[in-house]
Amino acid sequence: MAYTTIRTTFPTMANMSTSAQGYRVDEANILQKSWGIEIPLLANGNSSLYGTLIQDLVVAIVYETNERVHVKIYDKDQKQVVVPNSPLGMIRPNIQEQFRGGHKKKNNPNEFNYTSNPFSFQVTRKSDGVVLFDTTGFPLVFEDQYLEISTRLPANNTNIYGLGEVLAPFKRTRNVTTLFARDAHDRYKNMYGTQTFYMDIRNDNGAAHGVFLLNAHGMDIVTTEDRITYKAIGGILDFYFFVPQDAKPNSVVQAYTSLVGKSMMPAHWMLGYQNCRYNYTSISHVQHVVEMHDKNNIPLEVQWIDIDYMDGRKDFTFDPVNFPREKMIDFSNSLHEQGKRFVVMVDPAIPVGNSYQPYVRGQKLNVFVKNVDGSEYQGQVWPGYTVFPDWWHPNITNYWQSEIIEWMELLKLDGIWIDMNEPSSFCLGSCGSLNNSVKPNAEPWQNTIEEQLRLHTFQESALNALGQPPGETRNLLYPNYIINNGAGNLSEKTVAMTAQHYGNISHYDIHNLYGHAEGYITRQALLAYNSSTRPFLLSRSTFAGSGSYMGHWTGDIVSSWEDMKGTIADIFNFQMYGISYSGADICGFVGDATENLCTRWMQLGSFYPFARMHNGDASIDQEPYIWESTAEASRKALKVRYALLPYFYTLFEESNRLGTGIWRPLVFEYPQYASIFAYNDEQIMLGSDILISPVLVDHAVTVNAQFPPGIWYDWYTHDILKTSSVKEKFIITLDAPLTHVPVHIRGGAIIITKLPELLVDKTYATPYNIIIALNENRHAFGRLYIDDGYSIQPANKSSINFIFTGNTLTVNGQFNYRDTESIGNITILSHQNIAYSVATIGDKKVTMVSNGTTTATLVTDGAVFLDKAIARPNYI
Ligand code: NOJ
Repeated sequence: MAYTTIRTTFPTMANMSTSAQGYRVDEANILQKSWGIEIPLLANGNSSLYGTLIQDLVVAIVYETNERVHVKIYDKDQKQVVVPNSPLGMIRPNIQEQFRGGHKKKNNPNEFNYTSNPFSFQVTRKSDGVVLFDTTGFPLVFEDQYLEISTRLPANNTNIYGLGEVLAPFKRTRNVTTLFARDAHDRYKNMYGTQTFYMDIRNDNGAAHGVFLLNAHGMDIVTTEDRITYKAIGGILDFYFFVPQDAKPNSVVQAYTSLVGKSMMPAHWMLGYQNCRYNYTSISHVQHVVEMHDKNNIPLEVQWIDIDYMDGRKDFTFDPVNFPREKMIDFSNSLHEQGKRFVVMVDPAIPVGNSYQPYVRGQKLNVFVKNVDGSEYQGQVWPGYTVFPDWWHPNITNYWQSEIIEWMELLKLDGIWIDMNEPSSFCLGSCGSLNNSVKPNAEPWQNTIEEQLRLHTFQESALNALGQPPGETRNLLYPNYIINNGAGNLSEKTVAMTAQHYGNISHYDIHNLYGHAEGYITRQALLAYNSSTRPFLLSRSTFAGSGSYMGHWTGDIVSSWEDMKGTIADIFNFQMYGISYSGADICGFVGDATENLCTRWMQLGSFYPFARMHNGDASIDQEPYIWESTAEASRKALKVRYALLPYFYTLFEESNRLGTGIWRPLVFEYPQYASIFAYNDEQIMLGSDILISPVLVDHAVTVNAQFPPGIWYDWYTHDILKTSSVKEKFIITLDAPLTHVPVHIRGGAIIITKLPELLVDKTYATPYNIIIALNENRHAFGRLYIDDGYSIQPANKSSINFIFTGNTLTVNGQFNYRDTESIGNITILSHQNIAYSVATIGDKKVTMVSNGTTTATLVTDGAVFLDKAIARPNYI
């Protein structure tokens, strides 16, 4: 779809500020508090760059935990708008409370030091004396609408990851990352969500640390060879530094998610393969699509319906002709009878209309965003003129819960998909309440360019005429520092910056939190609907900590090889941000997929933590059965996914409990080779034990893949990778004919699998199989987590460790789930030939199959239970 963006102000890249005079420490008034230190700062002059200078600042330093130090630079008067706690569900007590655990300076691996005049600070890792964050020599600017601070990077030694949401290579080398939630999928530009966390892995020793700026205002983050510079248009400089004792990348992710929130725990079914498209023409069309998956033996766990089912694209309605209410209800029932699930879209924007009940009810409760003059803010989204729920309003929970619960009950939905929550609005300002001779069409691109321009000029002057909120001294519409927003002016394609939320909050101050807040409120609604099973929520816009409430997909990607590859970096990023349940539209959204592309994409997408195909309204069909090679490749790759379901599920449990990611780049697992793996965003480590090497180039039938030293076994053949062919940088060329995706198991891992069936529950009903992939020392380890797969508080859990050492498999842990979890077979992979092997269940011996090669499979009679598994191979 083509949409002409009209810019009111063209963005320019402001140069590094050099004229700022900085601050000095008011030494006489430094306060040693029970919880840390407070250092007062005084401005060294009174000139300002882009806004009103704030003269008196405070730097509060708290060594919060043994791996985290908090440095908060704020205005003494506390007038700056900070990230509100409510309704975001953020567990972020005030600074004193954070210190409840006592002063952790003694054991803290960090040290904070400062220079008095001009004030600058360093955070140093004590163990090796490496300075991790160093503002020395750079200006500190603190104005109401412009904050700037920089840190020095050591030349040629850092690898920076994170800062998003962005479509860019995983290792960040590009100059400007703009953080301002925006309805667009755009290379290197600001996109749907905002995440200010980054990780730095050093080349010389692989040591990692993380930095998080808790600030929800629009900002540019400029990375150059020697520094990172933050330029924010509001808020405060609230930094958290994460330096875990072992300095490992995965530990940094854990430390970060311990602060902002760890990923929600998905139910079993959410790990199944899912299908959607925009522009299904009728409910029978959707039924046909479901049947075709079945006919072609392609697993389909969840069928989704986009806004197509709505009447005039209005939430909570049905298109009476193509998606009538009764047929939608029948469809939902029939999906459930087949053991499948049903999810539909609900957009945040509520259409204006006195006969539309969700609008009338919302008006009564007064829960919609307002204009400065107190009138209703009316923007424009799919259904035409719309209002926007104010997630900050005290009545919002009431309102949204009753709308969502009614809807869930009516359709027996399994989850909700929330989109357009940047929030997206197609016109400038409160256009719905304006009188103009040219009426905008439901979709702006249906107006001619001339009409769009005329409308825009009209809307802009109306927006300006509304003025600023009373008492506001900042220029919310046109701040002097212009961030590099891809849409142009801040109010373009979203809600105007002067729009008012409850509690005199201007949209300017919470724009980046709108989607996160919607997610939080919607999750509460889903929990109110059903408080015992895990809610399912997928959101386009996110903020720090969103992963505790919802999953994320990467938006409107193009059906291209470039974008397919880009999804790997994008999903890596979201794993770091603690939003583990994330994925991308398999086979792409915008434009037409080809058979080759979709075949390769299904192979990659089969391993996305959230695996869903989705397609754009104007694109040709691309469901996995459309092309023969795609169907075959999908069946094969999804068999691997379904076999690995217990492994995926265990990773999700760890993500939920510890905060680790499901997908990991090689550099996170092998930081000791940082200089080799730093750039690799083409292969995926699923946890620590499975390496996926997808084909990302058209017509290629081989992959040049990197393999860390050690033994790697082919998933399909169990062959050991021929390390003799290892070239420079650990590269091995793998065969990958069109319907084959290379998957390898790390020697040293024990992987617990299932027999893949077409549904998740059916797969889970098969016995567990154990793959013991030995390393050079004939050791291996694996873990399995089991619960009922859906309860928020499962009554019983099993957490089982499988240890192979001294030539014997032993099993220990917690066996609190049912004891009827049986084992199908045990396969031992070794670099040495195995002569024979035995397994026992208590005192009972089990059939042994071995052919004198490096693989031995012990086939059980199904009466072997997990807690009694023992395997003893003998080697030739
Ligand atoms: C934009 C979303 O990104 C896309 O996935 C969806 O299909 C359309 N909105 C229509 O709802």
